[in-house]
Amino acid sequence: MRNLLTMNELSVHDIEGIISQAQAFANGEGWFPESQTMVANLFFEPSTRTKCSFEMAERKLGLEVIPFDAGTSSVQKGETLYDTARTLEAIGVNALVIRHEQDAYFDELKGRLSIPVINAGDGCGHHPTQSLLDLMTIKQEFGRFKGLKIAIIGDIRHSRVARSNAVALTRLGSEVVFSGPPEWFDEGIGIGGYEDIDSAIGTADVVMLLRIQHERHAEKETRADAEYLQRFGLTKMRERSMKPKAIIMHPAPINRGVEVDTDLVECGRSRIFKQMENGVFIRMAVLKRAIEQIKGGNIHENSHQK
Ligand code: CP
Repeated sequence: MRNLLTMNELSVHDIEGIISQAQAFANGEGWFPESQTMVANLFFEPSTRTKCSFEMAERKLGLEVIPFDAGTSSVQKGETLYDTARTLEAIGVNALVIRHEQDAYFDELKGRLSIPVINAGDGCGHHPTQSLLDLMTIKQEFGRFKGLKIAIIGDIRHSRVARSNAVALTRLGSEVVFSGPPEWFDEGIGIGGYEDIDSAIGTADVVMLLRIQHERHAEKETRADAEYLQRFGLTKMRERSMKPKAIIMHPAPINRGVEVDTDLVECGRSRIFKQMENGVFIRMAVLKRAIEQIKGGNIHENSHQK
């Protein structure tokens, strides 16, 4: 089953294959499934980039997108995620893209659906397509991962992007370090140490900033925006200390003037909008991979466990 739930399930070979296919799409290659293919995007959390770029990718591949709005769906009447997914499978949807606020929401679906699930973000858990588009952006810039130092800075504890990228980049041979408010560092990731903000920014090849995930905090963040920027953000002064060829990344949405000075969001070093552009091609590659497996005849392979 070509689910894509976490970066852990992808080998280095898989990652390289997806990035290579995405780059081919970016260079103009086309691909369409041989028969009509239906997909649904189930977003139970807000999204602009991931939702719209999946839909863009689906349309570019000629897929039929079945509209699903969590707010007007029978989830509002108490229907479970599993029953929602089974319903869409029953009516003929061939693949599901799901974002959900619950960590590892996909555990209740594993082995119970015969259609692939692509994880578009689960709580503080994983965001594999964001990680893949980040990797594609780094590969375009440096042509390699080995030997690069990646500083992931900000709200590490609540970031599914930090988790997915730390796992993938380390396996690809990069050194990952974390910085930001020490109380938001998460030793549980088990990869990379904590580094002082000035040292991290001054020595990294990639400065990857993260949004403060206010919606996942038990207590309201009380630091003023300007104070956060000065202590833990990318200020103009810190940007001047970056290595000459180092780049700035951020998965967005951005809190301008908080984790990054607003004037740096589109500066020469910034690849933030390039990341978004790459997101469409990565999602095309991930969808193609899932659809090829379905059309390869495995769609009826798994029995349903009720
Ligand atoms: N980067 C990201 O996941 O953005 P959205 O929440 O807008 O999808």
